[in-house]
Amino acid sequence: MSLIDHIAAAPDLAALDALRVAALGKSGEITAALKSLGPMTPEERSVEGPKIHARREEVTAAITARKNALEAAILDARLATEKLDLSLPARETPRGSVHPVSQVMDELTEIFADMGFAVAEGPEIEDDWHNFTALNIPETHPARAMHDTFYVTPAAGEDAAPMVLRTHTSPVQIRTMMAGKPPIRIIAPGRVYRSDSDATHTPMFHQIEGLVIDKGINMGHLKWTLLTFLKAFFEREDVAIRMFASYFPFTEPSADVQVGWKFENGRRVIGGSENWMEVLGAGMVHPRVIANCGLDPDEWQGFAFGTGVDRLAMLKYGMSDLRAFFDGDLRWMKHYGFSALTVPTLSGGIGA
Ligand code: PHE
Repeated sequence: MSLIDHIAAAPDLAALDALRVAALGKSGEITAALKSLGPMTPEERSVEGPKIHARREEVTAAITARKNALEAAILDARLATEKLDLSLPARETPRGSVHPVSQVMDELTEIFADMGFAVAEGPEIEDDWHNFTALNIPETHPARAMHDTFYVTPAAGEDAAPMVLRTHTSPVQIRTMMAGKPPIRIIAPGRVYRSDSDATHTPMFHQIEGLVIDKGINMGHLKWTLLTFLKAFFEREDVAIRMFASYFPFTEPSADVQVGWKFENGRRVIGGSENWMEVLGAGMVHPRVIANCGLDPDEWQGFAFGTGVDRLAMLKYGMSDLRAFFDGDLRWMKHYGFSALTVPTLSGGIGA
């Protein structure tokens, strides 16, 4: 077999390198041939020189070709073993699960998106103006005391206005009205904070706010929206609500919204009108709040509502202790968590 054949048949990179050294290395055959040119006469050299150089070119090219082929084969083999088919469905049951709060937020988003609401957000560390003053809760207002506010004090020497951890999602109303022009239809789900802790209160919990600003909006629109949402959320046609006069500084008139419930197979379920519980705060946005956001309250009206997301999750999925929501206990998550692979849709079913 010729040297060129040996090179072409080299089984691996190590064998190929041995052949290269034998031909082109210090004491290699071609190196020796090149050295033999030295003592030759100019005539001999002009005959032998080109032959030896051509031979060296030929061998070098053969080595390069074989090297490329071997390296490509190595890469192919690696790609074949490391292949990952992303179109395959998960073969193992996924280990993680979706927290009931996330699940319920997804459900609410789906329901309100279907009614034409966008999702709005605001910061959890909020300034006093957005959390209180703009919402018609001035500094001396007793409603501030209702909120058990966490204050964020500026660092010593820092000349900054004191901030609060937002006590409700209502400041997102203000931010939304200031940022865009009506008509406005938004929901704002998110974390809120109050200094409170027992079986039904945790210092951090979740609310969802709703806000509609348009022309000619009235309490009838509010009632229809809430009833439609509650029916979709609890997935029952027999959901009933009733509204009582209440007080919030940022709505006028204000209403507490109660939903009917009953015992079904020994379980408390939403539906019917045998018993009532309060589930939402709501009302027509106070004209002063609309004006605080730079809009003309004679031109624009609207309604707002707010409710606890964790509370909705407890009512729908049957948990009794709110604190367990935030303990991070895997056994609780296994029991109450939701599959990451099923997304709530109105057509496929809102619940899981
Ligand atoms: N922000 C109120 C609360 O935290 C709820 C609410 C929102 C009431 C919007 C009326 C309108 O209790």
